[in-house]
Amino acid sequence: MDTTSFAIAIMAAGKGTRLRSKRPKVLHEIGGRPLLLHVIAAAKAFLPAERIVCVIGHEAERVKAAVESTGVQFALQTEQRGTGHAMQQVRSFYEAGGQAAPENLLVLSGDVPLIRPETIEAICAAHLHERAAMTVLTAVPDDPTGYGRILRRSPELPEVMAIVEQKSLDAEQMEVREINSGIYCFRTEALFRKLDGLGTDNAHGEFYLTDVAAMLVADGERVVAVQAENVDEVLGANTIAEMMHLDAAMRMSTVRKLMARGVTIFRPETCVIDPTVEVGPDTVLEPFVQLLGSTTIGSNCRIRSYSVIESSSIADEVTVRNGCVLDGAVVAAGAVLGPYAHLRPDSVIGERSRVGNFCETKNVRVGPDSKVNHLTYLGDAMVGAGVNIGAGTITCNYDGVRKHQTSIGDGCFIGSNSILVAPLSIGEGAYVAAASCITEDVPDGALAVGRSRQVTKAGWAAAKRAKENTGTGS
Ligand code: UD1
Ligand code: CA
Repeated sequence: MDTTSFAIAIMAAGKGTRLRSKRPKVLHEIGGRPLLLHVIAAAKAFLPAERIVCVIGHEAERVKAAVESTGVQFALQTEQRGTGHAMQQVRSFYEAGGQAAPENLLVLSGDVPLIRPETIEAICAAHLHERAAMTVLTAVPDDPTGYGRILRRSPELPEVMAIVEQKSLDAEQMEVREINSGIYCFRTEALFRKLDGLGTDNAHGEFYLTDVAAMLVADGERVVAVQAENVDEVLGANTIAEMMHLDAAMRMSTVRKLMARGVTIFRPETCVIDPTVEVGPDTVLEPFVQLLGSTTIGSNCRIRSYSVIESSSIADEVTVRNGCVLDGAVVAAGAVLGPYAHLRPDSVIGERSRVGNFCETKNVRVGPDSKVNHLTYLGDAMVGAGVNIGAGTITCNYDGVRKHQTSIGDGCFIGSNSILVAPLSIGEGAYVAAASCITEDVPDGALAVGRSRQVTKAGWAAAKRAKENTGTGS
């Protein structure tokens, strides 16, 4: 559709008193990102960021910092005196002259986060088609409690007479199940003209944007309702419980999308998967898996229960056994991780390599076909191909001030319980004897033994016992 006559205002200045939280409401997260970023993303699918103005107020700097990178404009509402008052700040924003006021203004609420671009487009199209001064997006949820209600001229007609807030409903109006979503389209001139007539003589002592509906009707203007196809999409987030309901709805839609693309997800309701995550077909996710941020997973992988994978890239045919934690890792095809492996940022694991039980890696390159199977810490290290790192090996990468590198050449065998004190280089094909403390470079093909020689005293135990027996006199 032709969007040139539109701009968007997003109301996001409120405190969110009902949350009982120090964090501003619009920065609470669902589906892995703040409410307001969901709304901005939907708005940006309709209009460029320069034509979107966000009303901020409560903790304005914090909110601004969180969403600034989207490129939207800001209007400040220093005191939060209601949604009508928020729109007065939008009017001031345009009066300040940076931008001309648009002919039509789409108004979104920062706490109605599941709104889809398709619905935004539908309400704007209906607004133009109906030649309305105000178009309200409505819905009919199972439980309308807490929402403003839509009073229609008659049930079959789109014309709205008024919007009545929950606390002002009379007995008859309580029966109305059609709710105001907090999303509207206005002819800007009609809206701005009415804002000064708003009063605060109501249950909250606030300027209600919703009162504009009846005021426009009194002027003989046309106010219409458009019902959203999908109720979930217009649900508000005013309490933590409501947010978690929306979070679950959002994550269910993500797992359904992945399943439709050939991913098997056992007990999908237990998995926490961000909408940004991609997973290839024939991959199996077991219950209680979390896939977060920019994570991508190839095909034919198996991700076993209780693994939490964030901002990591996993190629095809990888097995992540139970309880692994990955953050910023890159894992090549055919690798096997865990159980209980911890791959910290910049861990790059080569093809068919293994990082097993209780191993931790950080800033590490492990070449193909290498094994790091048990109880190991590798930090700031380059490990070649076909290397075997014995159980309990530790790179001592930190001297208390600086980090140092360890390099382990192709085909090395590092014996169990070795301590590798960086900076250190171990040449290709070298061996390190078990329980060594290695502080000097080891050339290609050498054996390094860094431990004291074993002393064995024949018959010592029997002699000790004999002595003890005489000693106690028993
Ligand atoms: C509002 C509507 C109600 C509707 C519901 C839908 C009013 C009076 N009521 O109620 O009819 O059913 O949304 O979710 O509008 N905000 C500001 N500045 C303020 C106050 C609020 O920017 O001074 C912002 C909030 O941050 C929030 C949005 O406006 O994002 C809605 O405010 P909220 O207080 O949550 O309104 P509701 O009581 O939910
Ligand atoms: Ca709300």
